[in-house]
Amino acid sequence: MAIPDHIVEVAVRYTDRDVGGPRSYLRVPAVIQARRGKRGWRTCYRLNTSWEGCRSLMDRATFFAIMGAFPTGVAIVTTMDNHNQPKGLTSNALCSVSAEPPLLLVSVDKNSNTLPALRHSQKFVVNYLSSGRGDLANLFASKEPDKFQNVSWRPASNGMPWLHGDTIAHAECNITQELDAGDHLVFIAQVDDGQPPAPGTKPLMYFRRTYGTWHE
Ligand SMILES: Cc1cc2nc3c(=O)[nH]c(=O)nc-3n(C[C@H](O)[C@H](O)[C@H](O)COP(=O)(O)O)c2cc1C
Repeated sequence: MAIPDHIVEVAVRYTDRDVGGPRSYLRVPAVIQARRGKRGWRTCYRLNTSWEGCRSLMDRATFFAIMGAFPTGVAIVTTMDNHNQPKGLTSNALCSVSAEPPLLLVSVDKNSNTLPALRHSQKFVVNYLSSGRGDLANLFASKEPDKFQNVSWRPASNGMPWLHGDTIAHAECNITQELDAGDHLVFIAQVDDGQPPAPGTKPLMYFRRTYGTWHE
């Protein structure tokens, strides 16, 4: 198993009684790949920021398969960069956090090209996509440098891009907190304005890597 770059040290737990019982650990640099699955061994990982304890990491495929069992809507998180250019990414790792004050969170990959713009502006719009907008979700899930070229948008009241023609609702947000979380950053933001869905409108849904429509 390849060890991700942000892991700097690996601890190997011995279960062999000869080396001190089940709670013995040998720390080795991450470049020395620990072998998993061998009888009596378990790998543990130390992140740059904190010691994560001695839990073996689940493999990515299983993790994604479990996370994919939870159907979600699909949103495009939009913001403006330091050149006043619109930026955005497709997102479903977002949820409501608090009602008073109204807070939500979005989780953004540290490799996202939208990330510097989010950190610069400290503001964003969550654009909740309408049913049938899978192509737009794919565009904003790509690394296309100018995703807004053929997309209709207008500034929301916080100045960030609102994809008014493709959404059933939107939330206008101001970032209040940034949390480091593994290979992602979690932004907690206050929802200052927005628009709820009109009756009868349907969202774009996502389940097991497939887009769908809500059926009542
Ligand atoms: C349905 C769906 C949901 C996604 N959710 C997230 C998410 O919550 N956070 C994230 O960082 N990336 C998410 N992605 C992946 C990003 O959209 C993708 O990495 C994109 O290329 C990032 O664009 P950027 O680098 O221009 O910011 C999702 C992709 C899809 C298709």
